[in-house]
Amino acid sequence: MPADAPSEFALPDGVHPFPHKHLTGIAGLQPWEIGFLLNEAEQWIALNRATAKHDDRLAGLTQINAFFENSTRTLLSFEIAGKRLGMDVINMHAAQSSVKKGETLLDTTATLNAMKPDVIVIRHDASGAVGLIADKVDCPVLNAGDGRHEHPTQALLDALTIRRRVGRINGTVVTICGDVLHSRVARSNILLLGTLGAEVRVVAPPTLLPPAVERMGVKAYTDFDAALEGAEVVMMLRLQLERMDGAFVPSPREYHHFYGLTRERLALAAKDALVMHPGPMNRGIEITSDVADDIQQSAITEQVEMGVAVRMACLDVLTRSRRGVEGWA
Ligand code: NCD
Repeated sequence: MPADAPSEFALPDGVHPFPHKHLTGIAGLQPWEIGFLLNEAEQWIALNRATAKHDDRLAGLTQINAFFENSTRTLLSFEIAGKRLGMDVINMHAAQSSVKKGETLLDTTATLNAMKPDVIVIRHDASGAVGLIADKVDCPVLNAGDGRHEHPTQALLDALTIRRRVGRINGTVVTICGDVLHSRVARSNILLLGTLGAEVRVVAPPTLLPPAVERMGVKAYTDFDAALEGAEVVMMLRLQLERMDGAFVPSPREYHHFYGLTRERLALAAKDALVMHPGPMNRGIEITSDVADDIQQSAITEQVEMGVAVRMACLDVLTRSRRGVEGWA
């Protein structure tokens, strides 16, 4: 827990710090459970920066990464995280699997389960698919992104980045700009940052804001300049053209004019505001290259680095009970 964390975020006496079998989303997590995962992740940052990167505490365990949707950084990150902890890591790409032969998701799940994995990491393009699978298998399941629903490890790695760079999350003003409607990253971040006491703003054209988004505890804007005032963190989202079945924006050029993060716009945010993007980026559309590559203000590559540490923490914590590891302090 960071020094400035209010006491309600501290782990109450006698409470298990992470009593969940799976990590399917941020929804339903207590602030101290999120804090526990972030604290656990801190220990892996130094190991990841060392030359020898093996801990091997999960040696002998099997991790299956079942990715039914494309991914570069998330799949690599989970694979590296599992291997650094000593697991046997197997990647199942749906494009080469029997899914293409028409096998149902539940049959694929039963097949994976019969191979006795110790943890399954799933990405799927249907919202809720990961929760469905979690109910049907014997081992812990980690959600690596399901449709427009949640992407919990992305929100955790974003929170770790903010906590390290800004020094706190509670009270921090975070502006999330872009395709909020289609974004599981935005959803998980809104839930997590709200739970830890940040002031979250979302900004997008009206067509890309979910209806009644304010009910999630955020302030909604359509004017990017107004949403940037006083922002300490500016989180940009990709225009998710593959999830749009119709024209949500007139043109990428017009979108950039109103919602692209340029150096001039960034100057409207708080001094030294942190720039974030989950990747992959559409350079020149939601963000200009000079902002994305700014070595002072952009935390984009640091987010990727924190991703490995966060995933190592999640894999370690979720497999503790099957490894018979006691003692949570
Ligand atoms: C995101 C995803 O796939 O949800 N990327 C990621 O995991 N880093 C965001 C996106 O696709 O734009």
